[in-house]
Amino acid sequence: MTDPLRLLEARFPAAFRSALGPDYVESDPVLRRSDRADAQANFAMGLAKKLGRKPREVAEAVLAELDVADLCESAEIAGPGFVNFALSNNVLANELNALAGDDRAGVTPTTEPKRIVVEYGGANVAKEMHVGHLRSLVIGDALARVADFLGHELIRQDHIGDWGTQFGMLIEHMIDNGATSDASELAIGDLEVFYRDARAKFDSELDSELDSELDSDTDETFAQRSRRRVVMLQSGDPETRRLWQLLVDESKQHFAEVYNSLGTLSDDDAYRGESFYNYMLDEVAQELTAKGLARIDNGALCAYAEGFFGKDGKPLPLMVRKSDGGFGYDATDLAALRYRTQELKAQRVLYCVDARQSQHFAMVFAIAKAAGWLDNTSAEHVAFGSVLGEDGTPFKTRTGGTLKLGDLLNEATERANAVIATKNADLDEATRDAVAHAVGVGAVKYTDLANDRVKDYVFSWDRMLAFEGNTAPYLQYAHARIQSILRKGGIDPDEAERGELMLTEPAEHTLAIELLSFGSAVQATFDSAQPHRLCTYLFDLASSYTSFYEKCPVLNAAPQARISRLTLSALTARVLGTGLGLLGIDAPQRM
Ligand code: ARG
Repeated sequence: MTDPLRLLEARFPAAFRSALGPDYVESDPVLRRSDRADAQANFAMGLAKKLGRKPREVAEAVLAELDVADLCESAEIAGPGFVNFALSNNVLANELNALAGDDRAGVTPTTEPKRIVVEYGGANVAKEMHVGHLRSLVIGDALARVADFLGHELIRQDHIGDWGTQFGMLIEHMIDNGATSDASELAIGDLEVFYRDARAKFDSELDSELDSELDSDTDETFAQRSRRRVVMLQSGDPETRRLWQLLVDESKQHFAEVYNSLGTLSDDDAYRGESFYNYMLDEVAQELTAKGLARIDNGALCAYAEGFFGKDGKPLPLMVRKSDGGFGYDATDLAALRYRTQELKAQRVLYCVDARQSQHFAMVFAIAKAAGWLDNTSAEHVAFGSVLGEDGTPFKTRTGGTLKLGDLLNEATERANAVIATKNADLDEATRDAVAHAVGVGAVKYTDLANDRVKDYVFSWDRMLAFEGNTAPYLQYAHARIQSILRKGGIDPDEAERGELMLTEPAEHTLAIELLSFGSAVQATFDSAQPHRLCTYLFDLASSYTSFYEKCPVLNAAPQARISRLTLSALTARVLGTGLGLLGIDAPQRM
């Protein structure tokens, strides 16, 4: 299947050559879909300037040489020099055949596969995941699926926060809770409470240390023990490492539950926590120093990228090595990018992380570039905004506490179940539960994907679960409704897809063009790393189907039109299902 716009595009070089000369062969026809025409070419304005001629004259000259008779019903000049094309129904019908029975919905894999690292997830050990991690998972997963679908070589990386000085206090807190007695000892229960208690103990003893009121029963305060524990962890003390591993594994189980209900990152290989880069940090520090990119400042090894300033107006460094000799978040990210480019040989690295870390990544990328690590790689921060409550402040639970993602997804499923029960009373309970999971989780994901990702959005159950508008339930329902039409028509979807197409009505024509743009929409989503482009496409497709269904009888049409329209319906379901799948959203057969 080829997007008819690409078919048209391919005819331009020859026309440019004959009309304007060999220098113009590679001019861009600036071809788009438009409200006025199936396709509109907008090359004349730009070229006219270069040539010192009138746009309309240029358009006429090119059009006279353009051989598109086999593709178009008409090609006409409009306004100051646009060329409007009406595509021929035969061509559309012909291209649509490629969709039938194809689980790629007619999209051919790339002939130039690249190695792509998609980093997403990034939750922190011994801490509850928050909505920022949800966004990372949802957006990253969609982009990973799209990259994979297009035939790129995909490597998923989950940069979990499993390293750092906080582990000293966490491990000491584990020990206080009796963690050394045997191996099955660890019951963290509520991660948030565990972390908070450890932190509270650490901070309160820090206060008392400052007041020099040392704990009289023990020789050492909790804070002192914690700091000693960090050193033990870093120097590889076996018992400390064992406890650390327990804590990491326990947290990973919590993460896996969320990953499972979301249907993302099930693959354990994707775990690449911060600790993984630990052994490379010294080398990175040496390399950056040797390359003149890092220098000692107040005892710390700092890397200054040009053009970054702090609030105080002073140049802002990345902290390669802290003054106490330890390494932190900045150093780890430098090492991770070096590893991804030099070892994994990634040609494109996508970081699906909160927009508030934009400056951090801009600095990491700048230093990496200066170090020569990005010579064959593009590193991109796939930034996203915050999730807000209906009052416009950061999204919290009703009681104001940190939101647990597991609870959020359960609530989504419950709410979806109630909505579906009102829409369709005929579904048996098991089917309804399965559908509710697909719709509830789908609704949460879709809301996260459908907006321009860098913008904040307001979390609203009512809006995301609505069956109208640009929502998951709307698209899922459009898909399920088509299945129901096919069932009523007594035709199996596979058979329907292979029916003979006969496009006559304008609504059929529009729907056909929409169906054939699927590949372009997927490609644009990948190129821009913007999942909302695919969402917009699917919404437009479902809307075109709705108009088609309103204007063209399907089941009651005359035999030849009937099979053709059932075919169009089945192909629409095929593309909707495939597209939702790329977003990580299930499309149930009935709803
Ligand atoms: N653990 C971090 C956080 O919760 C997210 C990790 C982002 N990725 C990275 N390569 N720094 O904020």
